[in-house]
Amino acid sequence: MVSKTLLAAVIIIFICTGFYPGGIMNHGIIWAGQKISLPEPVQDGEMSVERSISQRRSTRSFSPEALTLDQASQILWSAQGITHKSRNFRAAPSAGATYPLEIFLVAGMVKGLETGVYRYVPANHSLVRVLDSDRRNELYAQALRQGSVRDAPAVVVIAGVFGRTTNRYGTRGRQYVFMEVGHVGQNIHLQAESLGLGTVVIGAFDDSGVQRVLDLPEEVVPFYIMPLGKK
Ligand SMILES: Cc1cc2nc3c(=O)[nH]c(=O)nc-3n(C[C@H](O)[C@H](O)[C@H](O)COP(=O)(O)O)c2cc1C
Repeated sequence: MVSKTLLAAVIIIFICTGFYPGGIMNHGIIWAGQKISLPEPVQDGEMSVERSISQRRSTRSFSPEALTLDQASQILWSAQGITHKSRNFRAAPSAGATYPLEIFLVAGMVKGLETGVYRYVPANHSLVRVLDSDRRNELYAQALRQGSVRDAPAVVVIAGVFGRTTNRYGTRGRQYVFMEVGHVGQNIHLQAESLGLGTVVIGAFDDSGVQRVLDLPEEVVPFYIMPLGKK
C-alpha cells in the first residue's frame, strides 16, 4: 500500500516537474529527463534515393554552421522513427522487431536544443535530455582523437542492448544486432546526403570510454559514432 502511494507520488512529481515518464523505463533501463518534442519528419524529400546513394561519401570536416532542429529530427527519424503506426515498426528493419538499438544525439550546436546528450524516443518522436553538458570533446578523446567528432555541430551515437535480441534468438541474436546497426548507419548516411549534410560512420573508439562519457549502463553498448554537419 505504502509502496503504491510512493510510486504514484513519484510519477506525479515527474509529470509536474516536466520530467518525462515515457523516458524513464525502457526494458529495465532508466533514462529520465526533460522531454523535447521534435518537428514532424518530412516523408518526401527533394533528392531521389539513387542520387543520394551515388553522391554519398564519408565526410569528416564540416562547416561551422549549427544544425537546425528540423535536420536533427529528420536524421533521428531516418534512424529509428516509427513508420508503421499500428504495429510500431521503425525506419530500419529489426530481427523479429526486437528493436535492440538506442540512438543518442550529442548536441553541441543545434538550434533550439541546449548542449547536452539526448536519447531519441521513437514512440512519440521526441528527445529526452539525459546529460546537460557538451560531451563532444570527451567523445573525441575516446575516438582516437578523430577531429570530426570534436568539430561536428552534433554527433549521433548508435548503441544497443544485445539482450533484447538474444533473449529471443540466442547467441545468433548478437549478429542480428550488428546487422541492424549497419541498416541504421546507412539510413542516416542517405538521409544526411538528401539534406545537404555530411557524416561518417566511426567504429574506432574505446567502448567503455564512450559508455563513461555518455553515462550508459553496462548493457548499452556503443556501435557507431556519426558526426553530423553541413558539408
Ligand atoms: C565498420 C566501419 C568502421 C569505420 N570506422 C571509421 C572510423 O573510425 N573513422 C573514419 O573516419 N571512418 C571510418 N569508416 C568509414 C570508412 O573509412 C569509409 O566508409 C571508407 O573510406 C569508404 O569511403 P566512403 O564512405 O566515402 O565510400 C568506417 C566504415 C565502416 C563500415
